[in-house]
Amino acid sequence: MYEQAAVGREVFGNGENMLICGNVMKLPEEIRRLAGKVQCVYLDPPFMTGERFRRKRPYGEKGWKTGAPTLTLPAFEDHYTDERAYLRLLKRMINASRELLRDTGVFYLHLDWRMASQARALCDKAFGKSRFLNEIVWAYESGGRARKYFPRKHDVILFYAKGARYTFDLTKVPLSRKGNRRNHMARGVDEENRSFSRIISNGKEYRYYDDEPVYPGDVWTDIGFLQQRDPERTGYATQKPLALLERLLLPVTEPGDLVVDLCCGSGTTLEAAQNLGCRFAGLDISPETVAVALSRLKPENLTVDCPCRRDKAVLKTEYNGGRLEIGGLEIPDFPGKGRIADNLEGWDTGRIENGVFLADGCRRRSYRYPELVLSLKMKEEELPEAIMTTDAAGNRRVFERAR
Ligand SMILES: C[S@@+](CC[C@H](N)C(=O)[O-])C[C@H]1O[C@@H](n2cnc3c(N)ncnc32)[C@H](O)[C@@H]1O
Repeated sequence: MYEQAAVGREVFGNGENMLICGNVMKLPEEIRRLAGKVQCVYLDPPFMTGERFRRKRPYGEKGWKTGAPTLTLPAFEDHYTDERAYLRLLKRMINASRELLRDTGVFYLHLDWRMASQARALCDKAFGKSRFLNEIVWAYESGGRARKYFPRKHDVILFYAKGARYTFDLTKVPLSRKGNRRNHMARGVDEENRSFSRIISNGKEYRYYDDEPVYPGDVWTDIGFLQQRDPERTGYATQKPLALLERLLLPVTEPGDLVVDLCCGSGTTLEAAQNLGCRFAGLDISPETVAVALSRLKPENLTVDCPCRRDKAVLKTEYNGGRLEIGGLEIPDFPGKGRIADNLEGWDTGRIENGVFLADGCRRRSYRYPELVLSLKMKEEELPEAIMTTDAAGNRRVFERAR
């Protein structure tokens, strides 16, 4: 009933947010058009670890319900011929980010011990030393324990402003008091019955009231790495926690502001921006990674620019008793096993206009909704003109209704 078609773009609603498959080295026109409009750019580029990262995802109803079976697939190669090649990429990313920012805008660059010092020099040059704001240390406990030196247990997030009048409101990220006990200080209660910790220095008393908010400094130890069974985990090897991105974005944005991530990976920045009511644009070089990011986002007002696969896969559909029944995707070389319905991670209904898929409905599997809706009640004349599918390996295909 449905046959494969060629489409390069999918649009939900007004399409104002963007998820684009492309290379920072050849910045796509849609991103270049945002020059001077962006409030915050966050970059979490490859760290030059030399590793080949994987993504491991459950698939099918059983996979999403129980955690198995899973597919393990390549995520990205953090591998460069030499340091110069890596620094060329980094410099391009930093300069492009600066061009995107508006005058009140800010820039975060997330790295680790390997390249943070070289990156600091590149940022100083691009933004000016006077625009440096912080070197945030995100400390965590996960990973191995070195014995020949102190274990390296933190990432570095460089924080720069584009102009002197940048947006920043620390009061938007108050910390819970729990982690901030001043156990070494004396305790007291004042005449209004307010509890406080106190210290006397040079004969002067300093009081820290329990009901006064505290704010983070530039060393963050209270946001953990994602755990294996964390519900927000997508299986993408270098996925960052949403709590980290929310702390970075909240003080520097207002709802409606534009947030950009040029190496968006599994889409943490984009999900955080969406949760905060910001507009967003994400870029990543890999189409399968774009599919991971898309699976986390609410399909609202979004343009997805990502090549679709054309191959011998067949979308099994039937129209029966007033219902459209989706049987699954029959894919000759699919790496997983199981029912063909399990090959399908999500499907969007819509129509094709001028080579663009205009989506009007979207269904996805997730930890919360492992059972994909595979049957829709509708009249025959209401059958969707086209269906965009995402398989469990992250390949997207479009099928058009045969006339
Ligand atoms: C460390 S990961 C980002 C992880 C992300 N912050 C998250 O929470 O999932 C770096 C990403 O940069 C992408 N990347 C590498 N080189 C790129 C390039 N030249 N242009 C665009 N994206 C690139 C990789 O595909 C990878 O997904």
